[in-house]
Amino acid sequence: MKIFLIGFMGSGKTTLGRKLASKMGYEFIDLDHKLEQQVELSIAEYFSFFGEDAFRKLESTVLKKTPYPENVIISTGGGLPCYFDNMDWMKANGKVVYIKLSPKTLADRLESGKEERPLLQDKHGDDLITFIQQKLTEREPFYSQANIIADGLSLTAEKLEQVLQTKAI
Ligand code: S3P
Repeated sequence: MKIFLIGFMGSGKTTLGRKLASKMGYEFIDLDHKLEQQVELSIAEYFSFFGEDAFRKLESTVLKKTPYPENVIISTGGGLPCYFDNMDWMKANGKVVYIKLSPKTLADRLESGKEERPLLQDKHGDDLITFIQQKLTEREPFYSQANIIADGLSLTAEKLEQVLQTKAI
């Protein structure tokens, strides 16, 4: 089973994915990290050298061309489900879990750790919340197509494993 974790930056996809994978005995792949390894640049560097359009094309290629093991948890970049046919591709090739959080919670989490996230580098305080609200409004129609929508606030690897078992996916 391939399980794709999606959600806004700061929603905890990587941390939760890693824990869930180790609980379930699955492998874990962080697609942002895969992309960085392939181009030998950080995402911030790639954005500044080649721009966002080139990044979106590359992340879609990395999503579709990565050789996945049989059982794997995959954490994806926050924008990935919202470009090209990436969401349909993930649903055709596995199950998609959306980790949902409010703009305020995301802003609190994202206030630190913005340096490595090119879309957030110049945003602070109220500007950051407004930016997150706008982006979430654009992205929600894509995110909400996930097979499972999980409340990120109280989510643990244990709970997510239970949900995955209950939904028998
Ligand atoms: C992005 C999210 C980032 C990374 C890039 C763009 C986005 O991943 O892919 O900076 O558009 O939301 P994380 O969600 O893992 O921070």
